Amino acid sequence: MYSVRQRKLACPMTIAEQTAEQTAGRISEQTAGRISELNAVGPVLVLGATGKTGRRVVARLRDAGRTVRAASRGAETRFDWMDRATWASALDGMRALCLVAPPDPEPIADFVAEAKAAGVRRFVVLSGRGVHRYGMAFEPSLAEAERAVREADVDWTLIRPNSFAQNFAEDLYAVPLRAGLLALPVGAVAEPFIDMEDVAEVAVALLTEEGHSYRTYELSGPRALTFAEVTAEISAVSGRPMRFEAVTAERYVADLTARGMTEEEARSLAYVHVFLSEGHNTEPTTDVRYILGREPRDFSEYVKSVAAAGIWT
Ligand SMILES: NC(=O)c1ccc[n+]([C@@H]2O[C@H](COP(=O)([O-])OP(=O)(O)OC[C@H]3O[C@@H](n4cnc5c(N)ncnc54)[C@H](OP(=O)(O)O)[C@@H]3O)[C@@H](O)[C@H]2O)c1
Repeated sequence: MYSVRQRKLACPMTIAEQTAEQTAGRISEQTAGRISELNAVGPVLVLGATGKTGRRVVARLRDAGRTVRAASRGAETRFDWMDRATWASALDGMRALCLVAPPDPEPIADFVAEAKAAGVRRFVVLSGRGVHRYGMAFEPSLAEAERAVREADVDWTLIRPNSFAQNFAEDLYAVPLRAGLLALPVGAVAEPFIDMEDVAEVAVALLTEEGHSYRTYELSGPRALTFAEVTAEISAVSGRPMRFEAVTAERYVADLTARGMTEEEARSLAYVHVFLSEGHNTEPTTDVRYILGREPRDFSEYVKSVAAAGIWT
C-alpha cells in the first residue's frame, strides 16, 4: 500500500498515456504542458556506462534526445566508486540516476546520500530477480543498493531482471558454448531469460516517465526455457555442435578456477546457479508488458539475430 506522500509524488500518467489523452482531446494543452514538465525529469547520470546494460541505457536515452552523462572508470565521464574525489563532478547538475552497483557494496549508501544532496531526484536501481531471497549471500551490492535508496528517503524504482539472454553471447556462457559444452549446476530448471534491450528500454521509461515511484519490477522474457533447451536451440541455429550438462556446484567451481577465476568468485557464481536451480525465478512476469505496453522479446528472436551476426561460429 502506498503512503499519502508516495501517492502525491507519483504522477499517474505516462508519456504514452498523455499523448493518447491529448490526441483524443480529453486533456487541455495547459494540463499536457504541466505533465510534460513533470516528465522532463532533467539530465540523467548513467553509471556502469561502459557495461552491457549501461551502454544500452545511454544509447537509448540519447536516441530519445535526453541529456545524459555516461560515467564509469573508462567512460566519457570518469567515475570510480572507490575514488570519492570523482563523485561530485559526475553528479553536478544531474536530476536522475541509473544506478549500476559496484562489486563492493561499501560506498553505496554514502554515494546515494551525496547524490541526493547534489539534487538527484530520481533513482532507478538495476538489481536482480530473487535478491530479496538471497540478500547479501550473492552480489551483496545489489541488496545494498536497494537498501540504500529505500532508506535515503528519495524517489526510487527497483529493476529486478531474470538472467540476461546476452549471457550466452556476450558473457559467462559464450566461451563454453563455442567450445561445445555448457556445464552448469542448474539441473533441469527453466529460466525466462530477458533480453537486455528490453531491460534498457524499461530503464529509460522509468528514468523519464512518471508513475513508477516506489515500485519494484521483476523483468522476465515471455517464456521459460531449460538450459538444455537453450543450448540445443543455439546449436541448431548456429550449426555448431554444442551440448549442455548439469553438474554439481563443486564441479562447476573446479571448472571456473581451472579457467583462472578466484575461488571466491567461483563459489559466488556457483551459489547463484544453485539458487536458480531451486526454481525461485521460473515463472514469467508481466512487468515488461505493464511498463512498455508490449510483450518482451522472445528468446528465439534473440538467438536468430545473434547467430546471423556470426557470434557463435
Ligand atoms: N548477467 C545477468 O544475467 C544479470 C541478471 C540480473 C542482474 N544483473 C546485474 O546487472 C548489473 C549490470 O550488469 P552488466 O552485465 O551490465 O555489467 P557489466 O557489463 O559487467 O558492467 C559493469 C560496469 O560497472 C563499471 N564498474 C565496475 N567497477 C567500477 C568502479 N569501481 N567504479 C565505477 N564503475 C565501475 C564498469 O565500467 P568500468 O570498468 O569502465 O569502470 C562497467 O561499466 C550487475 O549488477 C549484475 O549483477 C545481471
